[in-house]
Amino acid sequence: MNACIRAVVRTALYNKLLVTGIQQGYQGMISNQFLDMNSRSVSNIIQQGGTILKTARCLEFQTEEGRALAYNNIKAAGIDALVGIGGDGTFRGIEVFSREYDIPVVGIPGTIDNDLHGSDFTLGFDTACNTVIEAIDKIRDTAASHDRLFFVEVMGRDSGCIALNAGIAGGAEAILLPETDTAIDQLIIQLESAAQGKKSSTIVIIAEGDQNGGAYNVAKRVKDKFNFYDTKVTILGHLQRGGSPSSFDRVLASRFGYAAVNLLLEGKTRQIVGIRGNQIQHMDISESVNTKAFKLADDMIEISRILAI
Ligand code: F6P
Repeated sequence: MNACIRAVVRTALYNKLLVTGIQQGYQGMISNQFLDMNSRSVSNIIQQGGTILKTARCLEFQTEEGRALAYNNIKAAGIDALVGIGGDGTFRGIEVFSREYDIPVVGIPGTIDNDLHGSDFTLGFDTACNTVIEAIDKIRDTAASHDRLFFVEVMGRDSGCIALNAGIAGGAEAILLPETDTAIDQLIIQLESAAQGKKSSTIVIIAEGDQNGGAYNVAKRVKDKFNFYDTKVTILGHLQRGGSPSSFDRVLASRFGYAAVNLLLEGKTRQIVGIRGNQIQHMDISESVNTKAFKLADDMIEISRILAI
């Protein structure tokens, strides 16, 4: 997100616009947390995780009264266009806000879950996958040395993107995703075949939103069948939400930020930016929030099974 804030600020300044940072997301609009920004305000942040503007979940913005207050405050602060960086909640917020009030808005997809319609990739996803594969590689050392069966839970409340990508990249023996209903019996068959194939280590990646109820539950239901292994569970949790962004994410953030400001300069509003086929595109924000993203390519699901034999 910092790399993207930097890109928005500098593209806007380059185009002789004034830039105000809103701290704490929608909460900052309600409680007047505005910050004048110049080129130096975003120095040395491209490599930092998180957001220098901070963020917050804001229930008040979900009410008409909260949005009215936010609108009055941003108008009083001289803000006449908004760029919102975030996931589904952020997009829904600017979608309703721009329907109710006459203010140009552009949304930039920023979530590790990669689950927004209108972009092949969201900011943070690649970095999160890299964090997960680093963890899997390390866990693999122990798994192989001790003949252990590991269940590793990764983030993704509704999305299996991190699990599938990192699972393939980390050579997982099985991957459980919210989008594909893998029965425990089927998982057991897969693991039995891995054991018969004399694999020296076995790692199962589980997206937190998988229907079987997370890594501890899956491990509990499976472990008795594999008493020749020592079974372990690792929940990677918020490790995945921080850290220095990958090259891919920094470049994508720069492209998104630049594109968002340019859309506003062209007089376009109620858009989200996205990337498809390495081209930056834009889409109506209502279409984005009203369409469920499904990002798991069939070949990847098949590859994850075939390459695990
Ligand atoms: O929405 C992104 C996400 O990373 C989910 O995958 C995860 O369930 C959630 O955030 C965790 O949110 P919080 O930090 O509020 O616990």
